[in-house]
Amino acid sequence: MPSELLKRIKETEWSVPKHVAIIMDGNGRWANERGLPRREGHRAGMRSVRDVVEGAIEAGIEVVTLYAFSQENWQRPRPEVAFLMSLLKSYAKSEVQDLVDNGVEVHVVGDIDRFEAAERKAIDTILDMTRGGERLQLVLAISYGSRGEIVRAARRLAERSASGDLEAAAIDEPTFAAELYTAPWPDPDLMIRTSGEYRISNFLLWQLAYAELYTTPVLWPDFTREHLFEAILDYQRRERRFGKVT
Ligand code: FPP
Repeated sequence: MPSELLKRIKETEWSVPKHVAIIMDGNGRWANERGLPRREGHRAGMRSVRDVVEGAIEAGIEVVTLYAFSQENWQRPRPEVAFLMSLLKSYAKSEVQDLVDNGVEVHVVGDIDRFEAAERKAIDTILDMTRGGERLQLVLAISYGSRGEIVRAARRLAERSASGDLEAAAIDEPTFAAELYTAPWPDPDLMIRTSGEYRISNFLLWQLAYAELYTTPVLWPDFTREHLFEAILDYQRRERRFGKVT
């Protein structure tokens, strides 16, 4: 049965956001509330990923970026990090065929050199198998930190300048943005954070400059495509001026 909210999204004159970025927060609290180990929250969070990806396709979103593992997350207890890594590998294995069938092309942004060989192999496989998907670009931010990404871009520009490839005076916003991991995609129009927190947590600091922010108290494992549709409807009600006067 088609969702009422989805119908409303399609009926309005306002366009859907092209790019939605999501901080998937609250897995641990979801598990605590149920007296379960934290890893069960992450496992349940993977189901939300599946539902939201399908919902994004239904709504006509072109790019979804998910904050799956931050650079700071490496500091969590080793067993939790190991479990998140195993979840990533099982996501790559169990979801890949559905992603291919749904026309999803997967990308990864972040410092993947920190991963072990088995995880890098799982990542390479999902990237290879989904290459060419045209309905949705799914960008997984893993081992990602925005300040690190910005410093990396500055270093790359400095190297190009030192080698004579680029004049320092020619560095402008587009040249800078072209050195970020996210260069291939437009900036997010909408950023959603679950679990009632109001922080950006080192996520896409440059790219979120003009994004609409949406927070919801819903914990990530409870977040479904219907919640995504609510966020899109809220976005469609807002007027985006990009600092100008209309
Ligand atoms: C934040 O919840 C969530 C994470 C650190 C991990 C996100 C991972 C998933 C949703 C599953 C895997 C996803 C993919 C794409 C394979 P938290 O642990 O910080 O929750 P808390 O704030 O309640 O403790």
